Amino acid sequence: MKLIQIRLKERGYDVIVGNNILGTFVEFLKKIDSANNIVIVTNPVIKRIWGKKIITLLSKKGINAKFEEVADTEKSKSIKTCFELINEIADFGKSRKLTIIAFGGGVIGDLAGFVASIYKRGIPYVQLPTTLVAQVDSAIGGKVAIDLKVGKNLVGSFYQPRLVFSETAFLDSLPKRELVNGLAEVIKYAVIKDSSLFEFLENNLAKVLTLDKDSVEYIIATSSQIKSRIVEQDELDKLGVRAILNYGHTIGHAIEAASGYSKRYTHGEAVGIGMIAANFISREFDLISKSAAQKIKNLLEQTGLPTTVEGVSPAKIYEAHHYDKKFTNGKNRFVLAVDIGKVKIVEGIPETAIKKAIDSICSQKR
Ligand code: NAD
Ligand code: GLY
Repeated sequence: MKLIQIRLKERGYDVIVGNNILGTFVEFLKKIDSANNIVIVTNPVIKRIWGKKIITLLSKKGINAKFEEVADTEKSKSIKTCFELINEIADFGKSRKLTIIAFGGGVIGDLAGFVASIYKRGIPYVQLPTTLVAQVDSAIGGKVAIDLKVGKNLVGSFYQPRLVFSETAFLDSLPKRELVNGLAEVIKYAVIKDSSLFEFLENNLAKVLTLDKDSVEYIIATSSQIKSRIVEQDELDKLGVRAILNYGHTIGHAIEAASGYSKRYTHGEAVGIGMIAANFISREFDLISKSAAQKIKNLLEQTGLPTTVEGVSPAKIYEAHHYDKKFTNGKNRFVLAVDIGKVKIVEGIPETAIKKAIDSICSQKR
């Protein structure tokens, strides 16, 4: 088991990572002085596979826990579901002190965390992430949000959990595509900060893909450590430090938006292709060596991530990239790799270079 502490101005919290550690979950809840009444926000898929285990664990220790289910879709990050959930929680919590457990992937974590941030002006919540994306990324750092029709994550808060508890055994039931989806974020961490994590992935990919316990614990703990150190430096994403977590995300988000957030590309798949496009720009300005850019592409490919976009026009992707939240004062902003383990933020990339980069990842030409 690995314990990573996040130290923030107001308070800190622990990120716990390990295999078959669920038995210790209640001990950690007690340490954070969690309420004796708990609402577990989840979806029917996760509840069916893991629900009994959790509720038995909690009730054995005398905790009064209740599930609140939302549909298994990104659409649950909506104002409607959010308010339905708050009403249910208010009903259960009438005269009780409550803690919320976000039990699921990033959708559940973002929604339940946002609900925790606004109900009674904020109540404690715990992240119990069940996808690789959530364990290495969304459960850590306190960005919680719901979507609007015009865009994702547009209504939200920075609201830190009291605890992140990453039981890697949850990944045993995760569909392969979702595992690969999360690996794109792990590769992102390796490229932005950690060449030894990159080498580890190159040398142990088969083990990771077959969920070898030690390898999985290593990549999740290392990614969590990287994200935690970044969040500590720039909790509110204002200093340009946390922004490096967006490597691959500018074109990645544009690919997701241009394909209508359909299941054509998962977030990780789009971000993987976005990393290749960002590296194309790095190459245009001679920021990264050809061999390093090729190594990144090879690792993405070997992981099972797509390296080109099929069936979405480059013009649509180009159009969509203008709506990126990372635009500041009308200027575009890209996180560009300069080596494996090092990135820099560059503003004002010429539009011609962006168009060429988008063309380079599209099988369909303009
Ligand atoms: P998700 O929450 O939709 O989960 C993916 C799928 O896996 C779902 O169908 C879910 O039911 C299923 N699933 C989850 N755990 C399972 C398990 N253990 N076994 C079997 N099936 C399981 O997707 P995600 O990739 O985890 O999260 C995506 C969301 O996270 C998006 O809304 C995105 O905006 C958000 N996100 C937020 C942050 C942040 O910093 N807050 C960072 C990255 C992503
Ligand atoms: N997922 C990006 C961030 O937490 O800042």
